[in-house]
Order: sequence, then C-alpha cells, then structure tokens
Amino acid sequence: MKFASFSVALAVLPFLSASPTYPKSGHHAERNKYPGLDVLAKRAGLLYFGTAIDNVVLNNTAYVTIAHNRSEFGQVTPSNGLKWMYTEPSRNVFNYTMANEIIKPAIKAHQIRRCHTFVWHNQLPDWLTSKNYTKPELIGILENHIKHEARAYYDKCYAWDVVNEAFNDDGTLRDDLWLQTIGPEYIELAFRFARKYTSPWTRLYYNDYGIERVNNKSLALQKVVKDFVKRGVPIDGVGLQAHFTVGRAPSYNDTRSALNLFTKLGLETALTELDVRVDLPDTAAKQKTQADVYAASVKACVDEESCVGVTVWDFWDPVSWVPSTFPGYGNACLWDDALKRKPAYYAISDMLRDE
Ligand code: G3I
Repeated sequence: MKFASFSVALAVLPFLSASPTYPKSGHHAERNKYPGLDVLAKRAGLLYFGTAIDNVVLNNTAYVTIAHNRSEFGQVTPSNGLKWMYTEPSRNVFNYTMANEIIKPAIKAHQIRRCHTFVWHNQLPDWLTSKNYTKPELIGILENHIKHEARAYYDKCYAWDVVNEAFNDDGTLRDDLWLQTIGPEYIELAFRFARKYTSPWTRLYYNDYGIERVNNKSLALQKVVKDFVKRGVPIDGVGLQAHFTVGRAPSYNDTRSALNLFTKLGLETALTELDVRVDLPDTAAKQKTQADVYAASVKACVDEESCVGVTVWDFWDPVSWVPSTFPGYGNACLWDDALKRKPAYYAISDMLRDE
C-alpha cells in the first residue's frame, strides 16, 4: 500500500496535486499563508517591511517579541531615541541610551535600521531653543551634532532622515529656528554634513508628511531636490511619511504619482511612517476601509521602482502617537489593543502574496 494510513495520505495529497488545497484553519496553514510582513514584502521585491518602536513600551515582552521578530519586521526605526533632545540634551554632551535600547536589539535580530532624524523643528533641547545663536554659531552646532551622531552610528543605519518636515503645505519653507537663523541653505548644509560623517553607503533622506499626492508641497520639494541633484548636493532618497486617515487617504494612484516625482529624479523612495487613523468609535466597515488603504499604500510602494520599503509608525494601537495628537482618533495600527492582528495586517499580506 502506497500510504500507510488515510490520514497520512490526506496530509501528503496537497503537495502532490498541481494546485494544492491547504487546510483552511490550524497553525501550520496560518503560518504558510501569513509567514510575516517582511517575509512577504521581500518576496514581492521590497528590501524590507519595518516598524517604528518607542522606548515607553520596551518593558512589554509580548510587544518586544513581535517588534524584533524578523519575519514581521526586517527594519526598525527608533520613534524618538535619535531626536536632538535625547541625543544632545546639553550642548556637546551626547547620550545614546534611548536609541541603543532599540538599535542594539535590532542589530542582534538582523533587522536593518532607519535612523530618525538629524534636523527637525520639534523635540529640540532647551539649550538650543531658548538662546539666540548667530548664523555661524548655529551652523557650527548643526555640524557638531550631525558629526557626533553620525560617527556614533557610522555603519549602523541603512538610512538617515537628514532633514524632517521642512516644508509647509503651501510649498513654502517652515518658519523655524533653522530657517530664521541660517536661511534656506540649512537643508543643503545638513545633507553635506551628513555625507561628510556617515558611512558612504548610508542613504541620506529628506522625510515629510502630506507629500503623498502631487500637490504644492510635494512639487516644491521636488524642485528643491531636483536642484540638489543638479548641483551634486548629496541626497539619496525621499521618505513619504504616509500618516493617513480613513475616508481621506490618498489612493494607490495618488501615492504612486507622488513617489514618481522622485523616481524621475533618480532617487530612492520609501513610505517611512505609515499609519491609518480612524475617527472613533471604530466599526467593522472602518476597519475594512483601513485595510484597503494600508494594502493600496504598500502596493504603491511595491509597484514603484524606486520604493525600497514600508515602515509603519508603530504596529500596536495603544502606543500610537495618534490619540494624543488627534483626540477622537485612534486604532491606526496593524495590531489591536489585545496584540491581535487586524484586518489591515491580513490585507497587506494577501496583497503582497499576490504580487
Ligand atoms: O520626554 C518624555 C519622557 O521623559 C517621558 O518619560 C515620556 C512618558 O510619556 O514622555 C516623553 O515625551 C514624549 C515623547 O514622545 C517620547 O515618548 C512626548 O510627550 C511626546 O509628545 C512625544 O511624541 C512623539 C512625537 O513624534 C513628537 O512630535 C511621538 O512619540 C513620535 O511617534 C512622533 O513621531 C513623529 C516623527 O518623529 C515625525 N513625523 C511625525 C511623527 C508623529 O508625530
């Protein structure tokens, strides 16, 4: 007899037939179909599927296990630990405690790192914001900051967000400390300093929100980046943050067209902070729309030649930045309060598997 028993025959049969039929439920079937977001993303041609991780939740073992599970996330971004107020809390005194709590386990888990961020208007230390520096002083402070951080993480970051959120929605530059004291050339200077001190293979990114459509902001950015490319200012990539809202999110075509603004310039692109918030209370219908938005956004990256990967801005609803910033909104992530995967997780996986 070919098969020792009927049950063995049943187990082997799917592997013999041309189009196998797997059991509909059970652990193994689930694992075969949903092996993890990064596994599926790589199969679909991306370099990674990643997540941001914040320090406040590192005492939660169940969370940390998922965060550093390489099958789910092949890339990690510290949500806060590499920001100026934490890395240089006093002038010329550097502290990498928070960043290392995330970067070190990521290295151990063989997850690549996106490092965020050298220059931003937000989360700056008091010593920097409470005093008026001259232009040469502030340029010196900028170079010194980038130099120390870049050297500390010399070959540890696949990419650095060199400048974050420098534009207003109308395409003008944000009227912040950097613009006021140094002028528009602070952006170029930051990229030049970053190139000088990071490893030659670190990708240098400009990163912003609200540029996931062709609009005044993304077109203004494209103009600046085009000029940088023309003049040899060292920029490698543009990150589209992709903080979306159910009911108002850019479509697949919107995101692709926006990515393409930078593909055309020969740059790398990525979705760097994807999340899709819901106007609470949540409903099954909203979760379905949220799932569609997530899948369409990831698909836009998969299909756009220059787009190397997608990072979600944390994966667990209770630690999302959304509820404190947008009261009444929430449930923006892929895992729910009970650390269960939501419809959006499955929608992304199903889309990636079909690519
Ligand atoms: O510094 C205190 C710390 O001492 C305290 O222990 C902790 C406990 O709650 O709070 C800490 O500060 C918070 C900080 O995150 C670190 O957790 C701030 O109150 C809070 O406002 C801050 O929020 C961060 C936000 O940037 C600041 O604008 C979010 O976690 C972070 O996810 C968010 O990330 C930004 C990206 O960098 C850029 N793009 C938008 C994105 C979402 O806002």
